[in-house]
Amino acid sequence: AGNPANQPPNVPEWTKSLGEGVAVRPYGKPSKFEKDVVRRDVEWLTASRESSVSFTPLHELEGIITPNGLCFERHHGGIAEVDPADHRLMIHGLVERPLILTLEELKRYPRVNRIHFMECAANSGMEWRGAQLNGCQFTHGMIHCVQYTGVSLRTLLEEAGVKTNGKWLLVEGADAAAMDRSLPIEKALDDCIIAYKMNGEALYPEQGYPMRLVVPGWQGNLWVKWLRRIKVGDQPWHTREETSKYTDLMPNGKARRFTWSMDAKSVITSPSPQAPIRHGKGFTIVSGLAWSGAGKVKRVDVSLDGGRNWWPARLDGPVLDKALTRFYYEFDWNGEPLLLQSRVQDETGYVQPSKAELRKIRGVNSIYHNNGIQTWHVQANGEVENVEVA
Ligand code: MTE
Repeated sequence: AGNPANQPPNVPEWTKSLGEGVAVRPYGKPSKFEKDVVRRDVEWLTASRESSVSFTPLHELEGIITPNGLCFERHHGGIAEVDPADHRLMIHGLVERPLILTLEELKRYPRVNRIHFMECAANSGMEWRGAQLNGCQFTHGMIHCVQYTGVSLRTLLEEAGVKTNGKWLLVEGADAAAMDRSLPIEKALDDCIIAYKMNGEALYPEQGYPMRLVVPGWQGNLWVKWLRRIKVGDQPWHTREETSKYTDLMPNGKARRFTWSMDAKSVITSPSPQAPIRHGKGFTIVSGLAWSGAGKVKRVDVSLDGGRNWWPARLDGPVLDKALTRFYYEFDWNGEPLLLQSRVQDETGYVQPSKAELRKIRGVNSIYHNNGIQTWHVQANGEVENVEVA
């Protein structure tokens, strides 16, 4: 492939003349040869683009940080283009001193920097009843991991002075969906952040510019974007997003509610259906991601034979609390078909279940919280497909 005229021993085109100067590209973009590394959506999944989802191209990424332009998006009422000059964050309800803050005022509070994954509770939701979508971008791409800069929510609640009967917060966005959820005060005072920067720069509009709530380890729906209001109350509000949605119908006909924390989960990002093995047999690198809403990843194991035998994977790079963790498993592929799986254990001792184990407890009526083990079938020609093993 390629153009032999640009390959050794010839001198390539790009060496024969000067390139573009500085600041010709005032805001940098990836090379044009990386044009396929983009967020993608699945057209039949939703009726409109405004209430829909796009997926992170996990199969093309390495390390643990998701570049800002590739973070998956989930909006219920489209992207709000908020002018920060007109945006205010209001904190009211059961507080001694209600606050109305501008972005500039928020930036005068002490700052924290934290790296966290955010996973939509519906990630892998299409896979409850069997293998469906061909690519980890689609099966697992409702996740991103970003370094957030902002103010600890605790700092602001202390400033406002929460009254003793203040036990819950209503957090609300400024978009057309005015998305709102109830958040227990214990979590709010523990590790939540009101973030205004992601990976060092201002939040992108898709991610809630100029400010969003960060709720480490908990489902994405609580991470309200375009955050405009926090009301302190003495009980939860039972909003649409915590009654008709984001609940799990169990086999006995009752629904689980307030299932906030994201259980430990992992996936092999390469090889995977969109990233087949192109080099044939021989030394092969399995690369993947693991995470847990309960804390740090302790270990990851990889199976080549659909879960019969497991081999320890190597964690590489930072292993952080409630953040994505990168793992590798290197082996000599003999060119025969594989049933690739990964299984994570977190620091609490919790082990990622198989899909069969998960269905035994949860049935098949759920959409949310599918953290079952994923299987990729690698064929002798290196092509990969999404399958399930019994
Ligand atoms: N906040 C507002 N205001 N409006 C929304 O539609 N979607 C929620 C949450 N916060 C949403 C929101 C859902 S369901 C998820 S999974 C995450 O934001 C998605 O965040 P992202 O677009 O940064 O990936």
